[in-house]
Amino acid sequence: MQYGYFDDDAREYVITRPDTPYPWINYLGSEEFFGLFSNTSGGYCFYRDARMLRLTRYRYNNVPADAGGRYFYLRDNSGGNADVWTPSWMPMKSKLDRYECRHGMGYSRISSSRNGLAFSQVSFVPLGDNCEIHKITLTNESGAEKNVDMFSFVEFCLWNANDDMTNFQRNFSIGEVEIEILSADSRHPTGAARIYHKTEYRERRNHYAVWAVNAPVSGFDTDRQSFLGLYNGFDSPQAVFKGEASNSVASGWAPVGSHHIKVKLAPNESKTFVFVFGYCENPQDQKWEKQVSGGNHGVINKTPANKLLDKYNTAEAADKALAELNAYWKNLLGKFTVDASASSRPDDIKMARMAGVWNQYQCMVTFNMSRSASYFESGIGRGMGFRDSNQDLLGFVHLVPQRARSRILDIAATQFPDGSAYHQYQPLTKRGNNEVGTGFNDDPLWLICGVAAYIKETGDYSILDEKVPFDNDEKLADTLFIHLKRSFDFIVTHKGPHGLPLIGRADWNDCLNLNCFSATPGESFQTTANFESGVAESVLIAAIFAFTGPDYIEICKRTNRADEASYAQKEISKMIDAINQHGWDGDWFVRAYDAYGKKIGSKECDDGKIFIESNGFAVMAGIGVDDGRAVKALDSVKEHLDTKYGIVLLQPAYKDYHLELGEVSSYPPGYKENAGIFCHNNPWVTIGETVLGRGTRAFETYAKICPAYREDDSDLRRMEPYVYAQMVAGKDAPRHGEAKNSWLTGTAAWTFVSISQYILGVRPVFDGLLIDPCVPKDMKGFTVTRHFRGADYHITVDNSAGAEKGVKSVTVDGKPHEGVIPAFNDGKVHNVLVKM
Ligand code: GLC
Ligand code: GLC
Repeated sequence: MQYGYFDDDAREYVITRPDTPYPWINYLGSEEFFGLFSNTSGGYCFYRDARMLRLTRYRYNNVPADAGGRYFYLRDNSGGNADVWTPSWMPMKSKLDRYECRHGMGYSRISSSRNGLAFSQVSFVPLGDNCEIHKITLTNESGAEKNVDMFSFVEFCLWNANDDMTNFQRNFSIGEVEIEILSADSRHPTGAARIYHKTEYRERRNHYAVWAVNAPVSGFDTDRQSFLGLYNGFDSPQAVFKGEASNSVASGWAPVGSHHIKVKLAPNESKTFVFVFGYCENPQDQKWEKQVSGGNHGVINKTPANKLLDKYNTAEAADKALAELNAYWKNLLGKFTVDASASSRPDDIKMARMAGVWNQYQCMVTFNMSRSASYFESGIGRGMGFRDSNQDLLGFVHLVPQRARSRILDIAATQFPDGSAYHQYQPLTKRGNNEVGTGFNDDPLWLICGVAAYIKETGDYSILDEKVPFDNDEKLADTLFIHLKRSFDFIVTHKGPHGLPLIGRADWNDCLNLNCFSATPGESFQTTANFESGVAESVLIAAIFAFTGPDYIEICKRTNRADEASYAQKEISKMIDAINQHGWDGDWFVRAYDAYGKKIGSKECDDGKIFIESNGFAVMAGIGVDDGRAVKALDSVKEHLDTKYGIVLLQPAYKDYHLELGEVSSYPPGYKENAGIFCHNNPWVTIGETVLGRGTRAFETYAKICPAYREDDSDLRRMEPYVYAQMVAGKDAPRHGEAKNSWLTGTAAWTFVSISQYILGVRPVFDGLLIDPCVPKDMKGFTVTRHFRGADYHITVDNSAGAEKGVKSVTVDGKPHEGVIPAFNDGKVHNVLVKM
């Protein structure tokens, strides 16, 4: 069953009932200020770092689900008994006569009505400012005058999200606010009420948050207990039921922000209010407007808040900011568009809306968030991942190459001089995260992969000359090229008995912990090494080396490093030999060797006989393409790992915990890395299939995990139909087909690479654009527009011949053309016609 539909023209997903099978969320903000926003106005916001600068509170894993948000309560006093409800459905689960939520590009819109009172909320983060705007419109659709009380509500978080939910002995004594009621004047034509959250401002912080409305209020609350009542939930705030705020001033306990506004509406009358939740910083020496020593009477310097709030104090100003945001996204998504109307397969519209809009949108979100803040990632546990962020770049770099460039430099700065890397870093400090440390031996290679993607997109080799610290230490800085060399050399110098790369703590599969041997409950599988074997090896790392190595060689050649290029070529050949000798199991590629030198992912094993990752990557790297092993490997993947909902990670699932394998065997069969459909690696098989020229099968593997293809199956899948999820339960799990962990997954970048570069086949390479589609026979044609290095390419592919792969002829601007299409860089549109 469906809970909504795609509105392709508006680039919105329209949710038509509030009780979705899980909160279906959107992300507001794409620069420094971010909000998570559910279809019932749940969620929270933060500035830059979801752990260190959390601005509003959210309660993960709570009952009921999705607790905490920007809530608006309405109390309709007309007709005798007061009627109280929440127009976003939650938190009161109010019965609504009409409900709709539209998630769009960086904004969401909720509209609903009850008893002739219509409500509309549009929420977004404007470009260039650190705030959320919530524009609220109330419309009286009944025939009689209405007297309505509206109450806003947010709950402030005491900045560090981890302390906020643990250190109550302190927290309950430190909360502080300021309240400012401004009457109408030239700066605030409709008056204003602003609630400032300034906990810890008196000491070491120079930032505060503010929750404001551009209207006169008849009261406010800033103390949670005064607003809700100690024993009430968000669904029964006593102030609203009483119809009166208590003008509470928080002192310790739990500071909140609530405005009480009285709204009188004639029949058909509408009134609009602009609520802004902002984050402001002051220079250290200008923190105070007025400081009174020896008490908490300091008045904060509101200059930055005034500037921000005065800018957005009218509905027109909010509309203008939203229009700018829309234009921004229209331009971004204009860089790659797909039109499948010529394909002759009606379902290809699902591919087109994902590849053209939602998949790219998700790539922006994963670029911004890495794996930090979603409805499954609490924003506390993880920072930016070295491996993850480099892969996220692959799907993002065409959108804003400049940002990809600076991200690469940030990531590289957390690399160690020997080429290994901090596995994660905190976005606020940009420093490596000591708690997780290093030792994930695939990490170095992803830097080569990310940098190569950046250069192929932009042609900008100057990035290689940038001086970048090692271990965040300026004294250790060297060029980015040297970082790449250290990455490459790290693999070369860390090999095991079979000449394959040592796995370290884990490779891409975080849960293949071959040196961990943990028997202690609660011990981290990823950071514990009870058995430094120096033996356990990864065939996957070897295959990644074989896949990204050629890019390293090209980079060397193009920057006059011929010696390094031939050294690299020798090392890659050696690695491929090692894979051929020790990484082939007869019908598929082996996955790894454990600490005793025993195979993993082999017929010799009881469980875990075959894994997806090494097979996908080896074929992507072209290994075994000449001698039929590549075909065999992917046929085996299909035979043993394929399901209706995608390809599972391994088979047979581990039934017991294996000390020598670690976390992978800790999950119940069918979940996560233990034979779940771990979507991130499915596109490696898709790309592998295109290497083999099997377009029908490639597309099949693409479509199976593509959320838009499962829209009418939302009761089972549960996650948003417009975004990929990290995992879908495998065939061994009781709820095969159920997805979890939507949004923050490498699936976004890799599926975008697989569909845009390998299936539709528009691939940036060092010399320009390579057009090499690999599609199902019955896909008769399609059009892609691609902005690339300063020109626009309008590419029409004609597959009336019914081929799966192989380009017969190409014309560029009417003239026959062979090979890679050059980067014209002339600001013009070029028409490319491709016949398969
Ligand atoms: C998670 C991690 C990613 C890892 C994957 C497989 O998605 O973020 O780094 O590769 O799991 O374990
Ligand atoms: C867990 C997850 C895995 C993730 C890892 C990193 O092991 O199962 O997906 O990559 O944590 O923290």
